[in-house]
Amino acid sequence: MQTVIEELNQIFAQAFTKAGYDEQLGRVVVSARPDLCQFQCNGAMSGAKQYRKAPLMIANDVINNIAENDVIESVNVVAPGFINIMVKDAFIGKYLSEMDTEADCGFAKTENPKTVVIDYGGPNVAKPLHVGHLRSAVIGECLKRLNRFVGNKVIGDAHLGDWGLQMGLIIHELSVRKPDLVYFDENYTGEYPATPPFSLKDLEEIYPFASAKSKEDEAYLEAARLATKELQKGRAGYRALWKHILSVSLADLKKNYGRLDVDFDLWLGESDADPYVPDMVKMMKDKGFAYESEGALVVDVKEESDTAPIPPCIILKSDGSAIYETTDLATLVQREKDFAPDRVIYVVDKRQNLHFERVFRCAKKTGVVKPETELSFIGFGTVNGKDGKPFKTRAGGTMKLSELLDTVENQVNIKDGDKLSEQELTELRQIISLAAIKYGDLMNPCESNYIFDIDKFASFEGNTGPYILYTMVRIKSILAKLSEHHTDIMNKLEKSPMRIDGKFETASQRDLALTLTRYSHTINEAYKKDAPSIICSYIYEISNKFNVFYHDKKILAETNEQILSSLIALITLTLRVLDICINILGFKAPAKM
Ligand code: ARG
Repeated sequence: MQTVIEELNQIFAQAFTKAGYDEQLGRVVVSARPDLCQFQCNGAMSGAKQYRKAPLMIANDVINNIAENDVIESVNVVAPGFINIMVKDAFIGKYLSEMDTEADCGFAKTENPKTVVIDYGGPNVAKPLHVGHLRSAVIGECLKRLNRFVGNKVIGDAHLGDWGLQMGLIIHELSVRKPDLVYFDENYTGEYPATPPFSLKDLEEIYPFASAKSKEDEAYLEAARLATKELQKGRAGYRALWKHILSVSLADLKKNYGRLDVDFDLWLGESDADPYVPDMVKMMKDKGFAYESEGALVVDVKEESDTAPIPPCIILKSDGSAIYETTDLATLVQREKDFAPDRVIYVVDKRQNLHFERVFRCAKKTGVVKPETELSFIGFGTVNGKDGKPFKTRAGGTMKLSELLDTVENQVNIKDGDKLSEQELTELRQIISLAAIKYGDLMNPCESNYIFDIDKFASFEGNTGPYILYTMVRIKSILAKLSEHHTDIMNKLEKSPMRIDGKFETASQRDLALTLTRYSHTINEAYKKDAPSIICSYIYEISNKFNVFYHDKKILAETNEQILSSLIALITLTLRVLDICINILGFKAPAKM
């Protein structure tokens, strides 16, 4: 289906042309002053200079040239040259009726699907997920669903941190604690044991211990670096240990991402790009891009327009080992080979901006990706506590993601919870807390920091996830009651497409209906701007408007069959639109709550 804005754009483009002006000026937007009009066109103002004419005159010329149509109820020109637009109620009704009969409520999928790889999650193996991993998972999952909804081919990749110094640290610490393990015997040629010599709990203790020690003890750090290098070079015992670390850790990561309803198509890691490093390095050297500087192999990436110095991109360290830049570049080689993506999106902490800037420049300059491949860095802000500093546990430590989920689940307040079974209660808590957490995150622009305020996020009132769920459940319960009392009407409606007529009894009903017509446009805007917050604002607006409408109109008391059918169709469509939107955001609504 065409969006309402697209329909209006056509009408205004024609009117501008007919009046002798550039059709490009005929762009219509949602009104910034809903008290005055529903839509507006500001093209007369933009055209004033070009045509050396007062905007007011242009605007009047244009409205006198609007062709007969079924869409516009009235237009009026307001100084200095705004064109204010109202659409016909009958048009709104017809538009919504059509949405109601279409799959995805009439959202038109893109005609040119792109292949998009989304690199998100980015957990480091052997370290538990913590609050710092929340945003990448939540935003990345939403962008994945949004891109898929729009019709793109999307591949979500977890890009595990499984190849850097942290692996060397763990291996070295294990060699100190258990030197007799067969993995450390360089002369060993047999099979390595199938079961790991440590548990998840051990790993969670070993890594922070080793990491802290390496910061104080230079020799220890050196040994860990050596272990990293030997692992990368393929020392058999280290590779075997590394596989154990990976499998123990991955099972736990999957469990925790599962709780967040976050899933990856690929669970590849930095290590998977390793086989691509030698050829990539050779290519960069052969083409004359890579050169040696202080022992390391680097590629210059500074550009004339830079206002701050951009250091060269390091391809290999002086000891020949791979670093963060290496694995990201080689991963792009791999992705190019596997998917030839049109776009690669990285959802990573915004403090890694410079890293990605250098990697992107290097990839473009050396031809790792095609010139037209779009590389996008979506840098997100920090999750803070109420004190404005990064979110911590009460004791001041880093909050594990599982702990955070437990805390929110325990905090959600469920009315009449005692009427539910233990299992129902647990499920309801999970559903509501996921909505609380994800909505609380996604309602903010990605790049902003935000305060993680559990009381606020879990509240059923205000701009929160639970409020949206509450509204949806309210509609479900009205529909359930209607089914009970008006079985015949409901049955009839189920068989034939529902019609929403444009006879609005209250302003709030029209307001709700008009907001629903903006659905496709809103999804497109969120997609174009990579901005989940646009969807959040939209469903908050729908929920508010639905609740005002419901307050004004006693739907259950309506006796006129035709009016009732139209009301049922309207609220059913409201529910469908909300459901599509929360699905894209990455959470669901319960049947009851
Ligand atoms: N593992 C990295 C970290 O903890 C994040 C990975 C982000 N993705 C990437 N392709 N570099 O900082």
